[in-house]
Amino acid sequence: MKTLEQDLSAWAKERFSAAFPDANLDEVPLDVVPTAEERFGDYQCNAAMGLARALKRAPRQIAETVAATQDPHPAIAGMEIAGPGFLNLTLSNKWLAGRLQALEEDSRLGVPAEGDGRTVVLDYSGPNVAKQMHVGHIRSTLIGNALDRLHRFMGFRVLSDNHIGDWGTQFGLLIQGYRHLLDDAAFDADPVEELERIYVESQQRSEQDPDWLEQARRELVKLQKGDEESLRIWRRFMEASRTENEKIYQRLGVSFDLQRGESFYNDRLPALVERLVRQGIAEESEGALVVNLEEEGLGVCIVRKRDGGFNYATTDLATIESRIEEFQPDEIVYVTDERQQLHFRQVFAVARRLGIRVGLVHIWFGPMRSAEGTFSTRKGNVIKLHRLLDEAERRALAMVQEASPQMPADQQKEVARALGIGALKYADLCQNPQSGVNFTWQKALALDGNSAPYLQYAYARIASVQDKYRERFPDGDLAAHPIVLGEPAERRLALRLLRFPDAVSRACRQNKPSILADYLFDLAQVYSSFYQNVPFLQAEEGCRESRVRICGVTARVLRQGLDLIGIETPSRI
Ligand code: ARG
Repeated sequence: MKTLEQDLSAWAKERFSAAFPDANLDEVPLDVVPTAEERFGDYQCNAAMGLARALKRAPRQIAETVAATQDPHPAIAGMEIAGPGFLNLTLSNKWLAGRLQALEEDSRLGVPAEGDGRTVVLDYSGPNVAKQMHVGHIRSTLIGNALDRLHRFMGFRVLSDNHIGDWGTQFGLLIQGYRHLLDDAAFDADPVEELERIYVESQQRSEQDPDWLEQARRELVKLQKGDEESLRIWRRFMEASRTENEKIYQRLGVSFDLQRGESFYNDRLPALVERLVRQGIAEESEGALVVNLEEEGLGVCIVRKRDGGFNYATTDLATIESRIEEFQPDEIVYVTDERQQLHFRQVFAVARRLGIRVGLVHIWFGPMRSAEGTFSTRKGNVIKLHRLLDEAERRALAMVQEASPQMPADQQKEVARALGIGALKYADLCQNPQSGVNFTWQKALALDGNSAPYLQYAYARIASVQDKYRERFPDGDLAAHPIVLGEPAERRLALRLLRFPDAVSRACRQNKPSILADYLFDLAQVYSSFYQNVPFLQAEEGCRESRVRICGVTARVLRQGLDLIGIETPSRI
């Protein structure tokens, strides 16, 4: 099933081609999009303006040719030309009602499986071993996971890979610290916290004590050479980190297909660098091997350091090659913060020189800030992610206890978990990834604004309409009455519901979960005006069933949409 926009756009293209058979329309956008205001109709095509020059005609005249077509789309009840040449389309109520019924019958709610089995590797989260995941990793995890869900739903074959930072120079300092500074009891109680402490202390020692630094270097060399004892310690770090991270992922409802980490690609690094040299891509510079990317304005990318060590970029190149060999992806998508833009542009440029043709996309995001100091402790340290999640649940629980004092305590806790975690996720995902987030608890948990709890409450209320209907009309038969659109508020809601497939498709294509979040907020608002303006349980038979069915579709769209950005929808709040 095509989306409504795709359907109308295809029609417009056909009409323009028929009217101007000699013109080349491939380069001109002929999209039909929803109008910004109802007085311009339901959908609009602005193509005439773009065609004016190529066709050497006034845009209004071009639009008129199409408006005069004898072959309108069955959805279109009226066409009007406005301003310099906008073609405004009004859709027929009957057609909209039929289309809404088709959406209701479809388990995918009209969303086309555009992915068509194409393969996408999604690289997100990527915390570093022996360090707690902090709020800096939360955006990558949440945005990445929303993209993961969107792509799967759109019919892509997705491989989500958590590219953990589990290799590098810090392990020399860590092992040295582990051997001499470890507090066993503290390690047993909270291994990652203890590892962090050791790392910081070991680093401080290395700055003051050259012997310590030298020993740490030796530890690193031993590890890199595959010394059994060193590897055993390194594996303990891995395990401790993984257990800790897993708890966070579980609370966030995130899981990966692969968690390989940088170390997985170690063996490939020497041969890769050799090939870069052999193919004349890398050259020596002051003892290091570098790829000169000045031509692309990207500086130089070091692929082997002077001391023979490889670095982050080398590993990422090897990772691309390995993923291509194993999964033959059509695209690899990375989600990290904005500071890694140059890194990925360099890596992608070197990959191109190696002849790699797969689509490489870096989705970067701005920082998450908070004037309240939510993400830092009083000492200025970053707050631990699990404490942040605890706080979200605690604050949500206070809200639920106040709103639903009669609810059993267990259920209050469960609802508060969904609301609190949802609030945190949504505060991040409702923003365009490329802008920063100004976080406040008040906004995140607002029951009357653009927040997860607002949408979750809306869902629960809408979902209960069908239950109420069944209670009041135990013999009623919803399916026996077709959907009819009479009232403006009803029609408006139907139009919004029919936009769902376009919102999902666009959010996925542009890698912007915020497009879907915006859509859901808009839908909930339009629903609320429907709810306030048209009676449904009190309406006469026929009308009543139609409206209850529309409520049913609205609830499903909200639930599906929220699920696609990883937000749960408790049925009772
Ligand atoms: N570990 C990195 C960090 O914390 C993120 C890894 C991103 N993925 C990648 N393939 N480089 O900054």
